[in-house]
Amino acid sequence: MSTKKVIAITGASSGMGKAAVQLFAHRGWIVYGGARRVENISTGTNIHAVKLDVTDSASNHNFINLITTEQQRIDVLINNAGYGEGGPVEDIPLANVRKQFETNFFGAVELTKLTLPTMRAQKAGRIVNISSIGGDLYMPLNAYYHASKAALQQWSDALDLEVQRFGIRSVIVQPGGTQSAWGDIAVQNMRKNLQPNSAYLPLVDVLGNVLSSANNRISATSADLAHVFYAAATDPKPKQRYFNSFGDRLVVHVVRAHPKAFRAATGALLHHLERRARN
Ligand SMILES: NC(=O)c1ccc[n+]([C@@H]2O[C@H](COP(=O)([O-])OP(=O)(O)OC[C@H]3O[C@@H](n4cnc5c(N)ncnc54)[C@H](OP(=O)(O)O)[C@@H]3O)[C@@H](O)[C@H]2O)c1
Repeated sequence: MSTKKVIAITGASSGMGKAAVQLFAHRGWIVYGGARRVENISTGTNIHAVKLDVTDSASNHNFINLITTEQQRIDVLINNAGYGEGGPVEDIPLANVRKQFETNFFGAVELTKLTLPTMRAQKAGRIVNISSIGGDLYMPLNAYYHASKAALQQWSDALDLEVQRFGIRSVIVQPGGTQSAWGDIAVQNMRKNLQPNSAYLPLVDVLGNVLSSANNRISATSADLAHVFYAAATDPKPKQRYFNSFGDRLVVHVVRAHPKAFRAATGALLHHLERRARN
């Protein structure tokens, strides 16, 4: 049995998860990275690339069993796999709503349940759940994404109180806009999910364009977030929430402290954008 720390990272084929695999491996951890596109997971010393679909129970069992069989321990699980099932609440087919929660919430739930017995036996462990500033703030056309991340946050906080007694902590990372494939996928889904002759087409046109141009101006990189993941995984005194920037922390604070003001400002911005698009 190796004395190196062992970490499982989901969503390891792209963006933050891929960058985190490289960072932890570079720092000497034994890394198990899981994703459906296993061929896109980095290769190298200390890296084990595993085919994983977090919406598939057999795949989740295989992922965790493989690690415990080969390493007999799991020090950290990072529940990072996720995407945005964008689109209007009324239009998105229920099957896609379920897929959103199966990926962003239930995948994390099942992998955590499978990992906890090992962490309890070793009397130590850390579950790092990748939420979003969108776990607190919200915009139209992303309702199910926000709901899935809000669920993840409440669940993680309750879990943390249950498992602290076993030397285990459950913490949340809340990235803001970050360079990755996430933004393009969310905007594509907004259009894909529109019903024929949808009443929401004008809203999707307005917000889709705003989000696409905002995506092009994002400065945070997936490598930046990998360092935040590292802090969340290794802090001797873990915090409940981790942010990449002061701006991300501030916006979450404002939304939580002043929900009416946030709602009024968002409504006014939307009204302005829609009026500008009409004229
Ligand atoms: N980028 C942002 O602006 C932003 C902001 C806030 C929060 N986040 C959150 O940060 C996390 C990482 O996102 P990212 O920005 O790095 O996006 P990304 O580049 O699109 O990467 C998403 C990863 O999730 C994996 N994934 C999706 N569905 C999966 C499934 N069913 N099973 C296994 N893996 C799955 C993808 O792998 P495969 O497709 O190969 O399976 C991919 O590796 C997500 O939870 C996202 O919601 C992102």
